[in-house]
Amino acid sequence: MERKTDFLVIGSGIAGLTYALKVAQYYPAKQVLVITKANADETNTKYAQGGVAVVNDLENDSFEKHIDDTLIAGDGLCNKKVVEIVVKEGPDRVQELIDWGARFDKEKDGDYKLGKEGGHSEFRIIHHKDITGWEMERALLEAVQAQPNIEIVKHCFVIDIITQHHLGYLVTKSTPDITAYGVYVLNLVTNRIEKILSHHTLLATGGNGQAYRTTTNPAIATGDGVAMVYRAKGKIENMEFIQFHPTALYEAGLRGQAFLITEAVRGDGGILRNKDGEAFMERYDERKDLAPRDIVARAIDSEMKRTGTEHVWLDCRHFDVAKFIDHFPNIYEKCKSVGIDIAHQMIPVAPAAHYSCGGIKVDEWGHSSIQNLSACGECSSTGLHGANRLASNSLLEAMVFAHRCYLDIIGRPAVEESAVWPGDAIPAWDAKGTTDPKEMILITQSLKELQQVMSDYVGIVRNDIRLKRAMKRLDLLWEETEQLYQSSSVSPQLLELRNLITVGYLIVKGAAFRKESRGLHFNTDYPEKNELVQNIVL
Ligand code: FAD
Ligand code: SIN
Repeated sequence: MERKTDFLVIGSGIAGLTYALKVAQYYPAKQVLVITKANADETNTKYAQGGVAVVNDLENDSFEKHIDDTLIAGDGLCNKKVVEIVVKEGPDRVQELIDWGARFDKEKDGDYKLGKEGGHSEFRIIHHKDITGWEMERALLEAVQAQPNIEIVKHCFVIDIITQHHLGYLVTKSTPDITAYGVYVLNLVTNRIEKILSHHTLLATGGNGQAYRTTTNPAIATGDGVAMVYRAKGKIENMEFIQFHPTALYEAGLRGQAFLITEAVRGDGGILRNKDGEAFMERYDERKDLAPRDIVARAIDSEMKRTGTEHVWLDCRHFDVAKFIDHFPNIYEKCKSVGIDIAHQMIPVAPAAHYSCGGIKVDEWGHSSIQNLSACGECSSTGLHGANRLASNSLLEAMVFAHRCYLDIIGRPAVEESAVWPGDAIPAWDAKGTTDPKEMILITQSLKELQQVMSDYVGIVRNDIRLKRAMKRLDLLWEETEQLYQSSSVSPQLLELRNLITVGYLIVKGAAFRKESRGLHFNTDYPEKNELVQNIVL
């Protein structure tokens, strides 16, 4: 089956929906198709807790301070122009979201309640209790549903970006005009592979936390967009900068998605303690529990290794419980459900993979290196985060860049059906020679192996021997999975495994090239910064 649409959007998180709404409102007579592989709200966005970092109290805060905080956290690798764009355009984008119906907590006098997180010099994080992402996703989906020219197709898995390669041409990294014509999808309702064509595609496929054994990300976060662009010979950058959130709730034996304890808890006074009860952050950084995330996660990792424990503690026993419940009702309930009374017991926490700072390389208008293909949100690398993202800057980045992708598309001349558009020449998906896999369990086992390798060898602290081991094991996993892919009919499990192995490979490759320690990449063989190593583009 084949479909054609005016604007194609992959992903229904904050990035994809913001862009879709803007384009659809600008072109009421054109069709915007949003494709998503799970339920529409199953996104990283839905799980965001702390909030959105944005300057809104100009008496006590300033753009300059937010810019400086972002640059400091980014450890010398941020693109300053992009930082300025995001910080300065942020307030207007947040106001648009409020106009679409998102609610943020207010003080009695009507001002927004402001939270603080690691690396921020001021209280500037607007939030909706501790379920900010849920509220943003709700508001966006409601606005999208009220927009008649947007269609969301759920349970539809994008497999690959269609380029000249599918027309039989040789496409390499140095082909100058690689062009996207649309995508092949596995429709999970009909179990058919379909072709969706468009003159413009936006990738907003989110993060890749599932490459690790424990992550704050939901199951959808498998790096599909990055892997697709890499296969299409597009440019990917800085994949080694994987951010580990310092405080995911520790539950013995858990693998997969871990519950987050937002950094805003430390912003309100929560204290990290080791097994002996010591408030150890004092020994690591003068900003203590509110140092940037890379520093806190490394300190926890070091305490856990030193004391031989699987977690540290987050102490909130000194909080006014009513105030805690008012700001963090979801965390309070979750802790209660696993037998922790935060008024009397400390919360066991450990770092978990959380955010991908690198991704599909884009310019300041969201263009990828492939023509007619833009990207925004967590799957993209804009230059905002550098070597370490400042807390609560990613929702802001997604909104600002969704807007810039929209400005870019409406500024282009209308597309004519021209001779260069291959249309009918694009072949249907070729599934010849494939059969249903005999043992799906092989896919599950390979996924577990991948997550184990990434967590053991490419975690918070790295070295050359570990990276070499990781690469060898990934090579084998890749070979086995490719054999399966060539001979089996595709399933979401197989496609995600294949994408995660590609992402793992890109993380290890970036880490191996980066012969220095900076931000989120710490290699004990090269503990210092090396100013000669800048962005690593693969
Ligand atoms: P997502 O919201 O993840 O959406 C990705 C979409 O792409 C999904 O709809 C998915 O189904 C779809 N998709 C992916 N692959 C395919 C495919 N092959 N085919 C079809 N569809 C596909 N950031 C902040 O700024 N502040 C916070 O407080 C904050 N808290 C966080 C807490 C948690 C627990 C987590 C996990 C993240 C948090 N973040 C926070 C980060 C932030 O939430 C994400 O970076 C952001 O929401 C990403 O939005 P996105 O639109 O790029 O991707
Ligand atoms: C948190 O609430 O701690 C997460 C914020 C973020 O990832 O930006």
